[in-house]
Amino acid sequence: MDFSLSEEHLMIRDAARDFAKTELLPGVIERDTHQKFPHEQVKKMGELGFLGMMVDPKYGGGGMDTVSYVLAMEELSKVDASASVIVSVNNSLVCYGLQAYGSEEQKQKYLTKLATGESIGAFCLSEPEAGSDATSQKTTAIDKGDHYVLNGTKNWITNGGTADYYLVIAQTDKEKGHKGINALIVEKGWDGFEIGPKEDKLGIRGSDTHSLIFNDVKVPKENRIGDDGFGFKFAMKTLSGGRIGIAAQALGIASGAYELARDYSKVRKAFGTEICNHQAIAFKLADMHTSITAARHLVMKAAWDKDQGNNYDMSGAMAKLYASQVAMDVTVEAVQVHGGNGYVKEYHVERMMRDAKITQIYEGTSEIQKIVISRGLLRD
Ligand code: CAA
Repeated sequence: MDFSLSEEHLMIRDAARDFAKTELLPGVIERDTHQKFPHEQVKKMGELGFLGMMVDPKYGGGGMDTVSYVLAMEELSKVDASASVIVSVNNSLVCYGLQAYGSEEQKQKYLTKLATGESIGAFCLSEPEAGSDATSQKTTAIDKGDHYVLNGTKNWITNGGTADYYLVIAQTDKEKGHKGINALIVEKGWDGFEIGPKEDKLGIRGSDTHSLIFNDVKVPKENRIGDDGFGFKFAMKTLSGGRIGIAAQALGIASGAYELARDYSKVRKAFGTEICNHQAIAFKLADMHTSITAARHLVMKAAWDKDQGNNYDMSGAMAKLYASQVAMDVTVEAVQVHGGNGYVKEYHVERMMRDAKITQIYEGTSEIQKIVISRGLLRD
């Protein structure tokens, strides 16, 4: 067994690390405070290839593997989890979904722009009454022959206001349950498509989260992804990969907070010595590093499974379940190591603690991950 990274993987990790330090770190506190979307940084990430990392180069992507993607996600998330969720949704939900299940025309028309960052995508599944219980879609897409008529509301949509293209999951035939659900590509600006107010969130405040309202929106049939009734499976398959990205985001938040706590403990003095010399702090660092390393192994294993063509539903869910818990635990401890300074914005760790919480909620709560894992176990 070889745990080392290839030269190419190291290059990608270092490029993401460098970008995070030089482009994301300046202004991250201000963007969090004022809920400012990182427009300029997203544009640059597109130019550098971070928005379509795993997309086939023939559609404008980087043609990289999932291991490369999680390495980049960890590095970006160490510094700015608001920027990294934009990367995650665009790569693993929107681009992956289109590449794996879209028609050639859809790939030419939409994927080529999404992979280069010329356009941004959003994935629209959650509803006021269907977050975890994803089969209970109330949004309807009624079949009118050559088009669907879309009606309903989606909630908590990442990139909700800034996206150009939206993958919308909706119920076409209620009688058929999950087999009556479709996934449709909707463009910003279409008649009847309204973007609701921006959410005022606890964390990832630089990202752009909105509700979306569809009022008799006409969607051409050619914008349906896959066969009639494939929408629920499309969402589940896409989310399985998305969870690996969010697991890497959680890992990055944890490792970023750990590094800040470690560095602070080497300079802050109390009782006549640097606080890292007190076991009360040194043991915290040991626990943080151990759990982060365990989380990294789970994240890498899930990414490797995807790259090998293995089933990654369970390994992705385990990675997300564990890494998001580690992100919460480590960020709370990082604030503690910083003492009073940990509670003020300029030391970054309070933001990381707020950002960490969402990793236990979006792309399936921790409880949903346990459903996926336990069903996988009992099926085997
Ligand atoms: N791959 C392929 N098919 C799958 C699948 C997968 N990973 N998971 C389920 N399916 C299939 C099942 O095989 C079944 O098909 P058949 O009837 O043909 O066998 C069908 O889908 C229904 O499956 P279940 O009976 O298991 O469905 P369920 O109602 O019990 O729900 C669930 C399962 C795992 C709880 C699912 O509803 C779920 O994942 N919920 C959470 C949704 C979620 O993650 N929401 C987050 C929103 S997106 C987001 O946060 C994006 C963002 O902006 C950051």
